Amino acid sequence: MVIPTVGVGRGPRERASAQARPEWTVRAARPVITVHDRRHACPAVARPGDRRTLDKIASEDWPAIHSWACRSEACRYQVWGPNTEAQTQEFVEGAVRAWSDTPQRRFSFVARLAGDVVGMGELHVRSRVQRQGEITYIVHPQVWGQGIGTQIGRQLLGYGFGELGLHRIHATCDPRNVGSSQVLAKLGMTHEGSLRHTQLIRDGWRDSLVFSVLEDEWPPPAQGMPSARNC
Ligand SMILES: CC(C)(COP(=O)(O)OP(=O)(O)OC[C@H]1O[C@@H](n2cnc3c(N)ncnc32)[C@H](O)[C@@H]1OP(=O)(O)O)[C@@H](O)C(=O)NCCC(=O)NCCS
Repeated sequence: MVIPTVGVGRGPRERASAQARPEWTVRAARPVITVHDRRHACPAVARPGDRRTLDKIASEDWPAIHSWACRSEACRYQVWGPNTEAQTQEFVEGAVRAWSDTPQRRFSFVARLAGDVVGMGELHVRSRVQRQGEITYIVHPQVWGQGIGTQIGRQLLGYGFGELGLHRIHATCDPRNVGSSQVLAKLGMTHEGSLRHTQLIRDGWRDSLVFSVLEDEWPPPAQGMPSARNC
């Protein structure tokens, strides 16, 4: 497997796809409640004109989240899942409740594409004193490979540095999870190394690649995105 290198540069293909993909908007101040009848539905293709937002998670998002949390390919490298409905509801309720915690350490968002929930991302504050954070993200398998995972990660980093004033944000992934390590490399995060046997998952002990980015490295020059504060 190719381990992404430090501060990966942006090739012509990457630049072209970045231009073609509209940026997402983070809407953390208030939940945007979208009432629609297709909460299990997921568009197969992200169209350029589709509105993309990252919204504070709400209780009614659980069916959409369950539409991927119940799938084995979505949790292939995770300690959880495939989820029962009750497990997904419990997870979503915990994520919603965390927005009322003082101090708040967990910030959970759903990614919407033209109104449909197609993924989610979380930012965990691991230390307020040391200004350390961690991001995680997941995308419905039906829309993998369309830039959504990278865009969720980018907005989470912008939120962590711009809104929360973090100094370092890290992420981990299974070495076999090529999609995730590609996302982290595309975000300009540095591959720091590997930790051995960090989690016991369905097929045995898994290792974790560790990636990080520091506040003065964000945003990487080529990305030049607005911070969440400016969205
Ligand atoms: C990891 C995950 C979030 C990636 O989401 P995504 O929306 O498909 O990611 P992107 O489309 O932004 O892909 C980023 C790059 O990785 C590549 N990529 C994505 N999945 C890949 C795979 N399985 N193998 C090889 N490359 C892959 C994409 O082609 C893209 O590169 P490009 O822009 O040069 O074409 C998604 O696969 C997922 O939800 N997996 C299950 C949950 C998970 O593992 N979360 C991460 C926790 S560590």
